[in-house]
Amino acid sequence: MKKNISRRSPIGVFDSGIGGLTVARSLFEILPGENIIYLGDTARLPYGTKSKETVIKYSVEITKFLLNKNVKMVVVACNTASSVALPYLRKLTSLPVIGVIKPGCKAALKETNNFKIGVIGTLGTILSYSYKTQIHKIERETEVFSKACSLFVQLAEDGWTDNKIAKMVAKEYLDEFKRMNIDTLILGCTHYPILKNTISGVLGKKIKLIDSGEEAAKEVKRILEQEDMLNNQKKNGVHKFYVTDFQKKFKEISERFLGQPIHDVKKVKL
Ligand code: DGL
Repeated sequence: MKKNISRRSPIGVFDSGIGGLTVARSLFEILPGENIIYLGDTARLPYGTKSKETVIKYSVEITKFLLNKNVKMVVVACNTASSVALPYLRKLTSLPVIGVIKPGCKAALKETNNFKIGVIGTLGTILSYSYKTQIHKIERETEVFSKACSLFVQLAEDGWTDNKIAKMVAKEYLDEFKRMNIDTLILGCTHYPILKNTISGVLGKKIKLIDSGEEAAKEVKRILEQEDMLNNQKKNGVHKFYVTDFQKKFKEISERFLGQPIHDVKKVKL
């Protein structure tokens, strides 16, 4: 065990903003005993439209912040940051640094029968080809169809998740996946699980949806078990939240993403 790090040390989780709370929510469910520190870079979001260099720079700053809090592991909840920054973050520490891309790909490959997989995400995630590259590393013969669905982010933040506008936007983005005959779709963005019902309403029940964040949470559990680093305490873990800015409607949006009220939020300067 490393100096200052024990089973009781927190897991550090970060995202460009509030969206990663969908990943935190899965972690709370799967690992109720773990102490968790979440940082949302709300002052500088969105990451999805920014250059690779900028997303790497921000992700490095946040990872240093979390390492200073003596976390036992870093979870990159943001798909855009996971797509471009992981190798740079792993250079900062010998502790595990987990992204959402690989767990999402592994789960999709387990689900698919016809090896035609769709991926949706931010422009940054799609242009990085991170999902496509990872899927092909595991299973070369898979056809991967990718599409940026930028408007989904704002719809999820505004709570327009199943009204007629959300349905129209989803239909416009996703209809082509039906023509491509995919049987599995990866929700490659923190915000998209909020729109799950609308997305499956457009695609139909036959197309399975993979929530990368949920898969990453399962992977976190596997790694902690493997490294004998699970916090086995009986009481619930302590959850601390940091943001770089209090964006408007913070409380309302964060509760929608987390599925419960959020307490203990502090603003920090990185
Ligand atoms: N968290 C981002 C992601 O999962 C979506 C929001 C943003 O563009 O910053 O890619």
